Amino acid sequence: MAGNKVRLFWEGRQNTLPDISYDGQPVATSRIYPHPVYEENCLWLEERQRPACTPENHMYFGDNLDVMKFLLQNGYENRFDLIYIDPPYLSHQKYLSRIEIGDKNSPQAVERQVFRDNGPGDLDRFLEQIYPRLQLIKCLLKDNGSLFVHMDWHVSHYVKVLLDEIFGLESMINEIVWCYGGGTGTRRHFHRKHDLILWYAKGPDYTFNPQYRPYSPGTVQRGLTRVKGDRYKLHSKGALMQDWWSDINKILSPTAHENLKFPTQKPLALLQRIIAAASNPGDLVGDFYAGSATVAEVCEKSGRYWVTCDNSPIAIDTAMKRLIRMPARPFTVESMEASGQESGQLELKPLLSNDFNAQDILLQVGIQSYAPAQQAVPAPADSYIDFWEIDLNYDGKVFNSDLQVIRSGRHTDSSLPLHITTRCKKPRTPIHIAVKVHDVFGDTAMEIAQL
Ligand SMILES: C[S@@+](CC[C@H](N)C(=O)[O-])C[C@H]1O[C@@H](n2cnc3c(N)ncnc32)[C@H](O)[C@@H]1O
Repeated sequence: MAGNKVRLFWEGRQNTLPDISYDGQPVATSRIYPHPVYEENCLWLEERQRPACTPENHMYFGDNLDVMKFLLQNGYENRFDLIYIDPPYLSHQKYLSRIEIGDKNSPQAVERQVFRDNGPGDLDRFLEQIYPRLQLIKCLLKDNGSLFVHMDWHVSHYVKVLLDEIFGLESMINEIVWCYGGGTGTRRHFHRKHDLILWYAKGPDYTFNPQYRPYSPGTVQRGLTRVKGDRYKLHSKGALMQDWWSDINKILSPTAHENLKFPTQKPLALLQRIIAAASNPGDLVGDFYAGSATVAEVCEKSGRYWVTCDNSPIAIDTAMKRLIRMPARPFTVESMEASGQESGQLELKPLLSNDFNAQDILLQVGIQSYAPAQQAVPAPADSYIDFWEIDLNYDGKVFNSDLQVIRSGRHTDSSLPLHITTRCKKPRTPIHIAVKVHDVFGDTAMEIAQL
Protein backbone atom coordinates (compact mmCIF):
# COMPACT_ATOMS: atom_id res chain seq x y z
CA MET A 1 0.00 0.00 0.00
CA ALA A 2 1.41 3.34 -1.02
CA GLY A 3 2.47 5.39 1.98
CA ASN A 4 2.10 2.68 4.58
CA LYS A 5 5.58 1.73 5.65
CA VAL A 6 4.64 0.60 9.14
CA ARG A 7 5.51 -3.04 9.73
CA LEU A 8 5.21 -5.38 12.68
CA PHE A 9 8.36 -7.43 13.34
CA TRP A 10 8.73 -10.69 15.19
CA GLU A 11 11.37 -13.34 15.38
CA GLY A 12 11.36 -15.42 12.21
CA ARG A 13 9.23 -13.04 10.14
CA GLN A 14 9.30 -13.87 6.43
CA ASN A 15 9.04 -10.79 4.27
CA THR A 16 8.14 -12.53 1.06
CA LEU A 17 4.75 -13.72 -0.13
CA PRO A 18 4.16 -17.28 1.04
CA ASP A 19 5.07 -19.96 -1.45
CA ILE A 20 1.74 -21.21 -2.76
CA SER A 21 3.09 -24.33 -4.39
CA TYR A 22 1.44 -27.40 -2.93
CA ASP A 23 1.59 -30.84 -4.42
CA GLY A 24 -0.74 -32.53 -1.94
CA GLN A 25 -4.13 -33.78 -3.03
CA PRO A 26 -7.15 -34.78 -0.99
CA VAL A 27 -6.49 -38.30 0.34
CA ALA A 28 -10.20 -39.09 0.47
CA THR A 29 -13.30 -37.50 -0.94
CA SER A 30 -16.90 -38.00 0.11
CA ARG A 31 -19.94 -36.49 -1.53
CA ILE A 32 -22.70 -36.02 0.99
CA TYR A 33 -26.30 -36.02 -0.23
CA PRO A 34 -27.96 -35.13 3.08
CA HIS A 35 -30.76 -37.57 3.92
CA PRO A 36 -30.75 -38.08 7.70
CA VAL A 37 -32.15 -41.35 9.05
CA TYR A 38 -33.14 -41.47 12.71
CA GLU A 39 -35.02 -44.77 12.85
CA GLU A 40 -34.45 -48.36 11.80
CA ASN A 41 -37.15 -48.31 9.18
CA CYS A 42 -36.35 -45.82 6.55
CA LEU A 43 -38.76 -46.43 3.74
CA TRP A 44 -37.28 -44.46 0.96
CA LEU A 45 -40.45 -44.00 -0.99
CA GLU A 46 -39.69 -41.24 -3.39
CA GLU A 47 -37.24 -41.89 -6.21
CA ARG A 48 -34.06 -40.08 -5.25
CA GLN A 49 -31.25 -39.58 -7.65
CA ARG A 50 -27.86 -38.19 -6.89
CA PRO A 51 -27.64 -34.87 -8.73
CA ALA A 52 -25.47 -35.30 -11.81
CA CYS A 53 -23.39 -32.19 -11.13
CA THR A 54 -20.66 -32.02 -8.51
CA PRO A 55 -21.77 -30.21 -5.36
CA GLU A 56 -20.71 -26.56 -5.16
CA ASN A 57 -20.21 -26.56 -1.41
CA HIS A 58 -16.97 -27.93 0.02
CA MET A 59 -15.65 -28.86 3.45
CA TYR A 60 -11.94 -29.65 3.86
CA PHE A 61 -10.34 -31.50 6.74
CA GLY A 62 -6.78 -30.26 7.10
CA ASP A 63 -4.55 -27.34 7.87
CA ASN A 64 -6.04 -24.24 6.30
CA LEU A 65 -2.68 -23.13 4.85
CA ASP A 66 -2.59 -26.31 2.75
CA VAL A 67 -6.26 -25.92 1.88
CA MET A 68 -5.80 -22.32 0.75
CA LYS A 69 -2.79 -23.26 -1.39
CA PHE A 70 -4.76 -26.14 -2.89
CA LEU A 71 -7.68 -23.80 -3.64
CA LEU A 72 -5.40 -21.19 -5.22
CA GLN A 73 -3.99 -23.86 -7.52
CA ASN A 74 -7.42 -25.19 -8.37
CA GLY A 75 -9.21 -22.17 -9.77
CA TYR A 76 -10.19 -20.30 -6.60
CA GLU A 77 -7.91 -17.27 -6.99
CA ASN A 78 -10.11 -14.13 -6.89
CA ARG A 79 -13.25 -16.23 -6.41
CA PHE A 80 -14.54 -15.48 -2.92
CA ASP A 81 -17.02 -12.68 -2.30
CA LEU A 82 -16.68 -12.88 1.46
CA ILE A 83 -14.37 -14.65 3.89
CA TYR A 84 -15.03 -14.77 7.64
CA ILE A 85 -12.44 -16.23 9.98
CA ASP A 86 -12.66 -16.95 13.69
CA PRO A 87 -9.19 -18.27 14.52
CA PRO A 88 -7.72 -19.21 17.89
CA TYR A 89 -6.33 -15.96 19.38
CA LEU A 90 -3.88 -16.73 22.17
CA SER A 91 -6.52 -17.26 24.83
CA HIS A 92 -4.27 -19.85 26.50
CA GLN A 93 -7.03 -22.43 26.74
CA LYS A 94 -7.72 -26.02 25.84
CA TYR A 95 -11.11 -26.15 24.17
CA LEU A 96 -12.91 -29.30 25.23
CA SER A 97 -16.15 -30.83 24.16
CA ARG A 98 -17.88 -32.95 26.82
CA ILE A 99 -20.28 -35.69 25.86
CA GLU A 100 -21.92 -38.64 27.55
CA ILE A 101 -21.80 -42.10 26.09
CA GLY A 102 -23.00 -45.58 27.01
CA ASP A 103 -26.17 -46.62 28.78
CA LYS A 104 -28.77 -43.85 29.09
CA ASN A 105 -29.35 -44.64 32.77
CA SER A 106 -25.68 -44.61 33.74
CA PRO A 107 -23.90 -42.57 31.06
CA GLN A 108 -20.14 -42.05 31.13
CA ALA A 109 -18.70 -38.59 30.63
CA VAL A 110 -16.07 -38.26 27.91
CA GLU A 111 -13.96 -35.14 27.38
CA ARG A 112 -12.49 -34.56 23.96
CA GLN A 113 -9.99 -31.86 23.10
CA VAL A 114 -11.22 -30.01 20.02
CA PHE A 115 -8.28 -27.65 19.75
CA ARG A 116 -5.65 -25.94 21.87
CA ASP A 117 -5.00 -22.24 21.87
CA ASN A 118 -1.51 -21.12 22.88
CA GLY A 119 -0.72 -18.46 25.44
CA PRO A 120 0.88 -14.98 25.36
CA GLY A 121 4.40 -16.50 25.29
CA ASP A 122 3.62 -17.72 21.77
CA LEU A 123 2.82 -14.35 20.23
CA ASP A 124 5.61 -14.59 17.65
CA ARG A 125 4.46 -18.09 16.65
CA PHE A 126 0.87 -16.86 16.39
CA LEU A 127 1.92 -13.99 14.09
CA GLU A 128 4.08 -16.35 12.05
CA GLN A 129 1.02 -18.56 11.49
CA ILE A 130 -1.65 -15.95 10.85
CA TYR A 131 0.43 -13.68 8.55
CA PRO A 132 0.75 -16.03 5.53
CA ARG A 133 -2.88 -17.11 5.96
CA LEU A 134 -4.10 -13.50 5.76
CA GLN A 135 -1.95 -12.99 2.67
CA LEU A 136 -3.44 -16.02 0.94
CA ILE A 137 -6.96 -14.98 1.93
CA LYS A 138 -6.39 -11.73 0.05
CA CYS A 139 -5.46 -13.74 -3.07
CA LEU A 140 -8.63 -15.82 -2.72
CA LEU A 141 -10.90 -12.75 -2.50
CA LYS A 142 -12.51 -11.11 -5.51
CA ASP A 143 -11.52 -7.50 -6.14
CA ASN A 144 -14.74 -6.41 -4.45
CA GLY A 145 -14.56 -9.10 -1.77
CA SER A 146 -14.41 -8.60 1.99
CA LEU A 147 -12.67 -10.23 4.92
CA PHE A 148 -14.08 -10.30 8.46
CA VAL A 149 -11.61 -11.38 11.16
CA HIS A 150 -13.17 -12.30 14.50
CA MET A 151 -10.84 -11.71 17.47
CA ASP A 152 -10.87 -10.43 21.01
CA TRP A 153 -8.62 -8.24 23.17
CA HIS A 154 -5.74 -10.76 23.18
CA VAL A 155 -4.28 -10.13 19.72
CA SER A 156 -6.71 -8.03 17.66
CA HIS A 157 -4.36 -5.00 17.73
CA TYR A 158 -1.47 -6.98 16.30
CA VAL A 159 -3.71 -8.47 13.64
CA LYS A 160 -4.97 -5.02 12.68
CA VAL A 161 -1.39 -3.92 11.97
CA LEU A 162 -0.90 -7.00 9.76
CA LEU A 163 -4.18 -6.36 7.94
CA ASP A 164 -3.24 -2.71 7.40
CA GLU A 165 0.00 -3.89 5.82
CA ILE A 166 -1.62 -6.57 3.63
CA PHE A 167 -4.83 -4.79 2.59
CA GLY A 168 -3.88 -1.14 3.09
CA LEU A 169 -4.94 1.30 5.80
CA GLU A 170 -7.74 2.69 3.67
CA SER A 171 -9.21 -0.80 3.22
CA MET A 172 -10.40 -1.09 6.77
CA ILE A 173 -14.15 -0.57 6.73
CA ASN A 174 -15.21 -1.24 10.31
CA GLU A 175 -14.10 -2.45 13.68
CA ILE A 176 -17.26 -4.13 14.92
CA VAL A 177 -17.66 -4.55 18.65
CA TRP A 178 -19.84 -7.48 19.59
CA CYS A 179 -20.98 -7.02 23.22
CA TYR A 180 -22.47 -9.85 25.19
CA GLY A 181 -23.27 -10.71 28.78
CA GLY A 182 -23.25 -13.79 30.97
CA GLY A 183 -20.51 -15.80 32.62
CA THR A 184 -18.76 -15.19 35.91
CA GLY A 185 -17.13 -11.92 36.97
CA THR A 186 -13.76 -11.02 38.49
CA ARG A 187 -12.68 -8.43 41.04
CA ARG A 188 -9.30 -7.88 39.34
CA HIS A 189 -10.46 -5.92 36.29
CA PHE A 190 -13.54 -4.93 34.31
CA HIS A 191 -15.50 -7.86 33.02
CA ARG A 192 -14.25 -8.69 29.48
CA LYS A 193 -17.47 -8.89 27.55
CA HIS A 194 -16.89 -8.02 23.94
CA ASP A 195 -15.25 -9.42 20.82
CA LEU A 196 -13.79 -7.40 17.95
CA ILE A 197 -14.51 -8.14 14.33
CA LEU A 198 -12.24 -6.37 11.84
CA TRP A 199 -13.71 -5.79 8.38
CA TYR A 200 -11.37 -5.17 5.45
CA ALA A 201 -12.42 -4.80 1.81
CA LYS A 202 -10.05 -5.75 -0.99
CA GLY A 203 -11.25 -2.90 -3.21
CA PRO A 204 -13.50 0.18 -3.14
CA ASP A 205 -16.54 -1.52 -4.73
CA TYR A 206 -17.22 -3.88 -1.87
CA THR A 207 -20.72 -5.17 -1.16
CA PHE A 208 -22.62 -3.56 1.68
CA ASN A 209 -26.30 -4.17 2.33
CA PRO A 210 -27.26 -1.88 5.22
CA GLN A 211 -28.66 -3.66 8.23
CA TYR A 212 -31.29 -2.23 10.54
CA ARG A 213 -32.17 -2.45 14.20
CA PRO A 214 -35.48 -1.64 15.85
CA TYR A 215 -35.87 1.97 17.02
CA SER A 216 -35.85 2.43 20.77
CA PRO A 217 -39.34 2.75 22.27
CA GLY A 218 -38.56 6.42 23.10
CA THR A 219 -37.68 7.22 19.49
CA VAL A 220 -40.81 5.55 18.22
CA GLN A 221 -42.94 7.43 20.74
CA ARG A 222 -41.45 10.85 20.04
CA GLY A 223 -40.89 10.26 16.34
CA LEU A 224 -37.67 11.47 14.82
CA THR A 225 -39.37 14.26 12.95
CA ARG A 226 -40.20 16.26 16.03
CA VAL A 227 -36.64 16.15 17.28
CA LYS A 228 -34.69 16.60 14.03
CA GLY A 229 -37.14 18.32 11.74
CA ASP A 230 -39.03 17.19 8.63
CA ARG A 231 -36.02 15.86 6.72
CA TYR A 232 -35.78 12.87 9.07
CA LYS A 233 -38.43 10.20 9.04
CA LEU A 234 -38.59 6.88 10.83
CA HIS A 235 -37.54 4.19 8.39
CA SER A 236 -39.96 1.29 8.07
CA LYS A 237 -37.06 -1.19 8.49
CA GLY A 238 -35.73 0.46 11.67
CA ALA A 239 -32.59 2.47 12.44
CA LEU A 240 -29.33 1.89 10.58
CA MET A 241 -27.12 -0.53 12.47
CA GLN A 242 -24.04 0.91 14.18
CA ASP A 243 -20.65 -0.79 14.53
CA TRP A 244 -21.37 -2.02 18.06
CA TRP A 245 -23.80 -4.86 18.44
CA SER A 246 -25.35 -5.62 21.80
CA ASP A 247 -28.50 -7.37 20.62
CA ILE A 248 -26.97 -10.83 19.99
CA ASN A 249 -26.22 -13.10 22.93
CA LYS A 250 -23.50 -15.70 23.19
CA ILE A 251 -24.77 -19.28 23.13
CA LEU A 252 -24.77 -19.92 26.85
CA SER A 253 -27.73 -22.13 27.68
CA PRO A 254 -26.88 -25.84 27.32
CA THR A 255 -30.44 -26.40 26.12
CA ALA A 256 -30.45 -23.58 23.53
CA HIS A 257 -31.72 -24.98 20.27
CA GLU A 258 -28.61 -24.01 18.33
CA ASN A 259 -26.14 -25.21 20.99
CA LEU A 260 -24.08 -28.04 19.48
CA LYS A 261 -21.83 -28.28 22.55
CA PHE A 262 -18.96 -27.10 20.43
CA PRO A 263 -16.66 -24.77 22.38
CA THR A 264 -16.39 -21.30 20.78
CA GLN A 265 -19.48 -21.89 18.61
CA LYS A 266 -20.74 -18.51 17.38
CA PRO A 267 -24.44 -17.58 17.24
CA LEU A 268 -26.27 -17.91 13.95
CA ALA A 269 -27.64 -14.36 14.36
CA LEU A 270 -24.11 -12.92 14.35
CA LEU A 271 -23.14 -14.66 11.13
CA GLN A 272 -26.52 -13.92 9.59
CA ARG A 273 -25.85 -10.22 10.05
CA ILE A 274 -22.31 -10.34 8.64
CA ILE A 275 -23.24 -12.49 5.66
CA ALA A 276 -26.39 -10.48 4.86
CA ALA A 277 -24.41 -7.23 5.06
CA ALA A 278 -21.36 -8.18 3.00
CA SER A 279 -22.61 -10.67 0.39
CA ASN A 280 -25.58 -11.41 -1.84
CA PRO A 281 -27.49 -14.60 -2.65
CA GLY A 282 -25.45 -16.74 -5.06
CA ASP A 283 -22.13 -15.42 -3.68
CA LEU A 284 -19.28 -17.64 -2.51
CA VAL A 285 -18.38 -17.39 1.19
CA GLY A 286 -15.28 -18.92 2.82
CA ASP A 287 -14.53 -19.82 6.43
CA PHE A 288 -11.11 -21.39 7.04
CA TYR A 289 -11.58 -21.96 10.78
CA ALA A 290 -14.95 -23.64 10.50
CA GLY A 291 -15.49 -25.08 13.97
CA SER A 292 -19.11 -26.21 14.03
CA ALA A 293 -19.78 -24.64 10.57
CA THR A 294 -22.00 -21.76 11.65
CA VAL A 295 -21.04 -19.95 8.44
CA ALA A 296 -22.03 -22.89 6.25
CA GLU A 297 -25.43 -23.15 7.97
CA VAL A 298 -26.12 -19.45 7.40
CA CYS A 299 -25.05 -19.79 3.75
CA GLU A 300 -27.43 -22.72 3.33
CA LYS A 301 -30.29 -20.68 4.79
CA SER A 302 -29.55 -17.60 2.74
CA GLY A 303 -28.68 -19.04 -0.68
CA ARG A 304 -24.91 -18.48 -0.64
CA TYR A 305 -22.31 -21.10 -1.62
CA TRP A 306 -19.59 -21.99 0.87
CA VAL A 307 -16.11 -23.44 1.26
CA THR A 308 -15.04 -24.30 4.75
CA CYS A 309 -12.14 -26.04 6.48
CA ASP A 310 -10.93 -27.22 9.89
CA ASN A 311 -8.05 -29.35 11.14
CA SER A 312 -9.95 -30.86 14.07
CA PRO A 313 -11.73 -34.15 13.30
CA ILE A 314 -14.29 -33.35 16.02
CA ALA A 315 -15.06 -30.02 14.37
CA ILE A 316 -15.50 -31.74 11.00
CA ASP A 317 -17.87 -34.35 12.42
CA THR A 318 -19.86 -31.68 14.28
CA ALA A 319 -20.07 -29.64 11.09
CA MET A 320 -21.11 -32.63 8.96
CA LYS A 321 -23.89 -33.63 11.36
CA ARG A 322 -25.12 -30.06 11.56
CA LEU A 323 -25.42 -29.80 7.78
CA ILE A 324 -26.91 -33.27 7.36
CA ARG A 325 -29.57 -32.54 9.95
CA MET A 326 -30.67 -29.31 8.25
CA PRO A 327 -30.64 -30.97 5.60
CA ALA A 328 -28.21 -28.87 3.57
CA ARG A 329 -27.68 -29.02 -0.20
CA PRO A 330 -25.18 -31.72 -1.30
CA PHE A 331 -21.58 -30.98 -0.33
CA THR A 332 -18.17 -32.64 -0.50
CA VAL A 333 -15.87 -33.49 2.40
CA GLU A 334 -12.25 -33.73 1.36
CA SER A 335 -9.46 -34.88 3.68
CA MET A 336 -6.09 -33.31 3.13
CA GLU A 337 -4.53 -35.50 5.81
CA ALA A 338 -4.73 -39.16 6.65
CA SER A 339 -5.15 -38.84 10.44
CA GLY A 340 -8.45 -40.21 11.69
CA GLN A 341 -8.95 -42.02 8.39
CA GLU A 342 -10.10 -45.54 8.99
CA SER A 343 -8.56 -46.10 12.37
CA GLY A 344 -11.49 -47.98 13.93
CA GLN A 345 -12.40 -51.61 13.15
CA LEU A 346 -15.79 -52.19 11.58
CA GLU A 347 -17.67 -55.39 10.84
CA LEU A 348 -20.94 -55.32 8.89
CA LYS A 349 -23.95 -57.58 9.27
CA PRO A 350 -24.59 -59.64 6.14
CA LEU A 351 -26.77 -57.62 3.76
CA LEU A 352 -30.40 -58.80 3.52
CA SER A 353 -32.64 -58.00 0.59
CA ASN A 354 -36.27 -58.84 -0.22
CA ASP A 355 -38.30 -57.95 -3.28
CA PHE A 356 -40.62 -55.05 -2.58
CA ASN A 357 -42.09 -54.97 -6.10
CA ALA A 358 -40.81 -55.67 -9.63
CA GLN A 359 -38.37 -52.74 -9.56
CA ASP A 360 -37.55 -52.25 -5.91
CA ILE A 361 -36.02 -54.19 -3.05
CA LEU A 362 -36.06 -53.74 0.69
CA LEU A 363 -32.46 -53.72 1.80
CA GLN A 364 -31.19 -54.21 5.34
CA VAL A 365 -27.80 -52.74 6.17
CA GLY A 366 -26.34 -53.00 9.66
CA ILE A 367 -23.28 -52.85 11.86
CA GLN A 368 -22.24 -56.13 13.51
CA SER A 369 -19.48 -54.59 15.62
CA TYR A 370 -17.27 -51.53 15.89
CA ALA A 371 -14.01 -51.32 17.79
CA PRO A 372 -12.85 -47.71 18.26
CA ALA A 373 -9.14 -46.89 18.05
CA GLN A 374 -9.45 -44.75 21.17
CA GLN A 375 -11.53 -45.71 24.18
CA ALA A 376 -11.76 -43.24 27.05
CA VAL A 377 -14.09 -44.99 29.50
CA PRO A 378 -15.47 -48.52 29.80
CA ALA A 379 -18.62 -48.41 27.67
CA PRO A 380 -20.02 -50.70 24.95
CA ALA A 381 -17.83 -50.23 21.88
CA ASP A 382 -20.76 -49.35 19.63
CA SER A 383 -21.76 -46.49 21.93
CA TYR A 384 -18.61 -44.76 20.66
CA ILE A 385 -20.25 -44.47 17.24
CA ASP A 386 -21.30 -40.90 16.57
CA PHE A 387 -23.06 -41.47 13.22
CA TRP A 388 -22.69 -43.64 10.12
CA GLU A 389 -23.24 -43.24 6.40
CA ILE A 390 -24.24 -45.56 3.56
CA ASP A 391 -23.19 -45.43 -0.09
CA LEU A 392 -25.79 -47.51 -1.92
CA ASN A 393 -23.65 -47.99 -5.02
CA TYR A 394 -19.98 -47.57 -4.15
CA ASP A 395 -17.76 -46.99 -7.18
CA GLY A 396 -14.51 -47.86 -5.38
CA LYS A 397 -13.22 -44.27 -5.47
CA VAL A 398 -15.48 -41.59 -4.09
CA PHE A 399 -17.74 -42.32 -1.12
CA ASN A 400 -21.22 -41.08 -2.09
CA SER A 401 -23.14 -40.76 1.14
CA ASP A 402 -26.78 -41.50 0.22
CA LEU A 403 -28.11 -42.01 3.76
CA GLN A 404 -26.75 -40.84 7.08
CA VAL A 405 -27.84 -42.64 10.24
CA ILE A 406 -27.78 -40.14 13.04
CA ARG A 407 -29.18 -39.64 16.54
CA SER A 408 -32.55 -37.91 16.75
CA GLY A 409 -31.35 -35.66 19.59
CA ARG A 410 -28.39 -33.40 18.95
CA HIS A 411 -26.31 -35.07 21.64
CA THR A 412 -25.26 -38.61 22.40
CA ASP A 413 -28.11 -39.03 24.89
CA SER A 414 -30.50 -40.39 22.23
CA SER A 415 -30.06 -43.84 20.75
CA LEU A 416 -28.48 -44.51 17.38
CA PRO A 417 -29.93 -47.28 15.17
CA LEU A 418 -27.27 -49.84 14.27
CA HIS A 419 -29.18 -51.26 11.33
CA ILE A 420 -31.71 -49.82 8.94
CA THR A 421 -34.06 -51.05 6.25
CA THR A 422 -34.38 -48.97 3.15
CA ARG A 423 -36.23 -49.33 -0.12
CA CYS A 424 -34.07 -48.93 -3.20
CA LYS A 425 -33.91 -49.85 -6.89
CA LYS A 426 -33.20 -53.49 -7.69
CA PRO A 427 -29.69 -53.55 -9.15
CA ARG A 428 -29.26 -55.10 -12.62
CA THR A 429 -25.67 -56.15 -11.95
CA PRO A 430 -23.89 -56.85 -8.63
CA ILE A 431 -23.19 -53.64 -6.76
CA HIS A 432 -21.20 -52.68 -3.69
CA ILE A 433 -22.69 -51.10 -0.60
CA ALA A 434 -20.21 -49.16 1.52
CA VAL A 435 -20.69 -48.14 5.14
CA LYS A 436 -18.59 -45.50 6.89
CA VAL A 437 -18.63 -45.05 10.66
CA HIS A 438 -17.60 -41.83 12.43
CA ASP A 439 -16.87 -42.20 16.13
CA VAL A 440 -16.95 -39.64 18.91
CA PHE A 441 -13.20 -38.98 18.58
CA GLY A 442 -13.53 -38.20 14.87
CA ASP A 443 -11.95 -41.52 13.83
CA THR A 444 -13.57 -43.39 10.95
CA ALA A 445 -13.84 -46.90 9.57
CA MET A 446 -15.25 -48.12 6.27
CA GLU A 447 -16.41 -51.55 5.08
CA ILE A 448 -17.83 -52.71 1.78
CA ALA A 449 -20.30 -55.53 1.07
CA GLN A 450 -21.47 -56.89 -2.27
CA LEU A 451 -25.15 -57.15 -3.15
C1 LIG B 1 -12.80 -20.40 17.37
S1 LIG B 1 -13.08 -21.93 16.56
C2 LIG B 1 -14.25 -21.53 15.29
C3 LIG B 1 -15.68 -21.57 15.78
C4 LIG B 1 -16.69 -21.35 14.68
N1 LIG B 1 -16.70 -19.97 14.23
C5 LIG B 1 -18.10 -21.77 15.09
O1 LIG B 1 -19.02 -20.95 15.04
O2 LIG B 1 -18.26 -22.92 15.49
C6 LIG B 1 -11.58 -22.12 15.68
C7 LIG B 1 -11.48 -23.38 14.86
O3 LIG B 1 -10.32 -23.28 14.05
C8 LIG B 1 -9.74 -24.57 13.93
N2 LIG B 1 -8.33 -24.37 13.53
C9 LIG B 1 -7.32 -23.88 14.27
N3 LIG B 1 -6.17 -23.83 13.55
C10 LIG B 1 -6.47 -24.30 12.31
C11 LIG B 1 -5.71 -24.51 11.12
N4 LIG B 1 -4.42 -24.22 11.06
N5 LIG B 1 -6.34 -25.04 10.04
C12 LIG B 1 -7.66 -25.35 10.10
N6 LIG B 1 -8.44 -25.17 11.20
C13 LIG B 1 -7.85 -24.64 12.29
C14 LIG B 1 -9.97 -25.22 15.28
O4 LIG B 1 -9.93 -26.62 15.19
C15 LIG B 1 -11.34 -24.68 15.67
O5 LIG B 1 -12.37 -25.58 15.31
